[in-house]
Amino acid sequence: MPSTTPKRLEDKVAIVTGASRGIGREIALLFAREGAKLTITARSQEQLQALSDEIKALGCAEPFLCPLDVKDSEKVDELVDKTLDKYGRIDILVNNAGVTRDGLLLRMSDADWDDVLDTNLKGTFFCMRSVAKPMMRQRSGRIINMASVIGLIGNAGQANYAASKAGIIALTKSAAKELGSRNILINAIAPGFIDTEMTQVLGDEIKKSILKSIPVGVLGKPMDIAKAALFLASDESSFITGQVITVDGGMVM
Ligand SMILES: NC(=O)c1ccc[n+]([C@@H]2O[C@H](COP(=O)([O-])OP(=O)(O)OC[C@H]3O[C@@H](n4cnc5c(N)ncnc54)[C@H](O)[C@@H]3O)[C@@H](O)[C@H]2O)c1
Repeated sequence: MPSTTPKRLEDKVAIVTGASRGIGREIALLFAREGAKLTITARSQEQLQALSDEIKALGCAEPFLCPLDVKDSEKVDELVDKTLDKYGRIDILVNNAGVTRDGLLLRMSDADWDDVLDTNLKGTFFCMRSVAKPMMRQRSGRIINMASVIGLIGNAGQANYAASKAGIIALTKSAAKELGSRNILINAIAPGFIDTEMTQVLGDEIKKSILKSIPVGVLGKPMDIAKAALFLASDESSFITGQVITVDGGMVM
């Protein structure tokens, strides 16, 4: 029997960046199941196609695929224009694309600093600036930025990543103040350690010491973050803006 539970994002148009794998992929799948019309973007066309096939197999609307590098502001503007051409509006932006290039401060190269800041912080800014115009015209919108607990507490070996994520938090709060009067709600999620390809590269010893710092004693799953993103995208969070929701099994409190 078909489910009669109302879908929480019925007909909402959502852009999800970094959707090809990990957390972004899970957000795209959950949003699709909740009735959203999606534009999915990442660097890999192949992985986006695989995700699109999976979404169609679930019986959900076929997503619009748009491979790009979020560091390229012209391509980001094109992504937004193409999404508007296809769907006529943009209700939700999830800025999830992100990278790490870890290394100690003294040995960190200019390239590793720039790559992380440009992808995580500048890429988030480019996407926000580009969707802000149509959202202001609509007088509604939701923006969800992927920060990290590392942006709150810092981490040895991740000065570039921590700075980018702390920057995302400040960007979120500033934009929330600027755009709140237009009914555009902007929040950040700060995930703790989540089991994705990004964290699978960590050695066993590091993972063991991380687990000791998490009160619930396990790494999070991409779905833990996707559920928080769904809450922030849905009508249930209509009086929440400029906030950072930490989803980390109690690691930072
Ligand atoms: N996994 C964790 O423990 C964790 C913890 C805190 C925050 N986060 C954040 O969550 C987000 C997703 O993390 P994940 O673990 O799923 O990572 P992941 O490495 O599995 O996926 C990253 C995604 O971002 C995309 N991407 C990277 N650079 C890009 C670029 N220049 N242009 C376009 N797309 C680009 C990739 O194609 C991929 O789809 C990131 O912002 C990350 O910093 C992750």
